[in-house]
This record gives sequence, C-alpha cells and structure tokens, in this order.
Amino acid sequence: MKHFTFFLVAVATIAGLVALIAPAPGHADGEPAPIFVTEIPHGYRDWRWISSAHEAGNLNSLGAVLGNDVAINAYREGKLPFPDGTIIAALHYRYVPSDENNKVFGQAQSFVPGAPTNIQFMVKDSTKYAATGGWGFAHFADGKPGDAAFMKSCFPCHEKAKATDLVFTRYAP
Ligand code: HEC
Repeated sequence: MKHFTFFLVAVATIAGLVALIAPAPGHADGEPAPIFVTEIPHGYRDWRWISSAHEAGNLNSLGAVLGNDVAINAYREGKLPFPDGTIIAALHYRYVPSDENNKVFGQAQSFVPGAPTNIQFMVKDSTKYAATGGWGFAHFADGKPGDAAFMKSCFPCHEKAKATDLVFTRYAP
C-alpha cells in the first residue's frame, strides 16, 4: 500500500511538472496568440436580424447579420462597448439573380441569396479574447473552422471600427 501511495504521488508530481513545462497551445513562440472560436454558437439561425450587407467584387455575397439577445439589447440601448455574452453572426450567401422574380417584374432587377458560402461570428468575452479587443472571431465554411492564418486577418481589419467596438454593422431600425 505504501508503495502504491508513493507511486501515486510520483505520478501526480510528474504530471504537474509536465503541465508547467509544456507550452500552452498557440504560445510556442512566446507571443500570446489570439484565440479563435472553433464551435458554432448554438441556435444562431433563430436570432434576430440586425442588418444586411451586399459585397460585390470577388466576394459577390449577400449577408444577413443577426444577433443574440445580448447583442440586440445592446444595439437598441446604444450600449458601447458591447457587453460580455454578445454574439453577432454574419450569414453569407452568393448574390444571385432570380429568374423567377425577374419574370414577374418583366425585367432583370431581382437578386436573392444563393448557395451559402460561410458563417462568421464575433463573440464578446473581454477576458478570454483580451488579445483581440475582447472579441473572439469565428469563420465556418461547410461547418469547418477557418485555418489559423486566415483567422489572423479578422482582428486587424475589424480594429478599424474602433469607435464602435470593432463592429461595422449598424442596427437597421
Ligand atoms: C478587410 C476587412 C475585413 C476583414 C479581413 C474581415 N472583416 Fe468582418 N467585416 C468587415 C466589414 C467592412 C463588415 C461590414 C460589412 C459586411 O457585413 O459585409 C464586416 C462584418 C463582419 C461581421 C458582422 C459584424 C460587424 O462587425 O459588422 C462579422 C461577424 C464579421 N465581419 C466577422 C469576421 C471574421 C470572423 C473575419 C475573419 C475570418 C472577418 N470578419 C474579416 C471587414 C472585414
């Protein structure tokens, strides 16, 4: 029994040492790496609409921006910075002409969401995501998260919206 106890203590000590020595994931180079969100927030498709945006050019996308209750309340109250717990979703689709609608209108004028391209999220947690302005960025295409290099592009661009806590989209009344 004595030997067994000693064995357990030894194992616990070694495990503790390994935990101390092993670098935390993403911190190998000594820089605090930004943390990205790797799970799709639950229930986002039922959230309320904040606004929409069409991007032309290569993106050729039609986006719907939705928010959870914390996001919607903050927007309506004009609360800045957004409180912890805020999640903003951007659902992106191809921007495609609708032959069906155009026929009804009698001319080419109608564009609708086509195939989904990606979903992006901004999750506010000022402690966990302190290195990226309090926002955790997330990108999923076909349910798969964006790779680390791609995810590094989010924060530097969103930082340009500093005056509105890194969020570009305005609330559409
Ligand atoms: C080159 C600049 C740029 C980059 C890079 C970028 N965004 Fe954005 N993002 C924008 C702009 C501008 C908008 C508002 C217009 C729109 O929705 O198309 C936006 C909108 C959003 C929104 C809706 C909330 C808001 O701020 O308006 C989310 C969520 C989002 N982006 C997430 C991401 C994620 C995740 C990444 C990285 C994978 C990313 N963005 C990379 C410029 C950028």
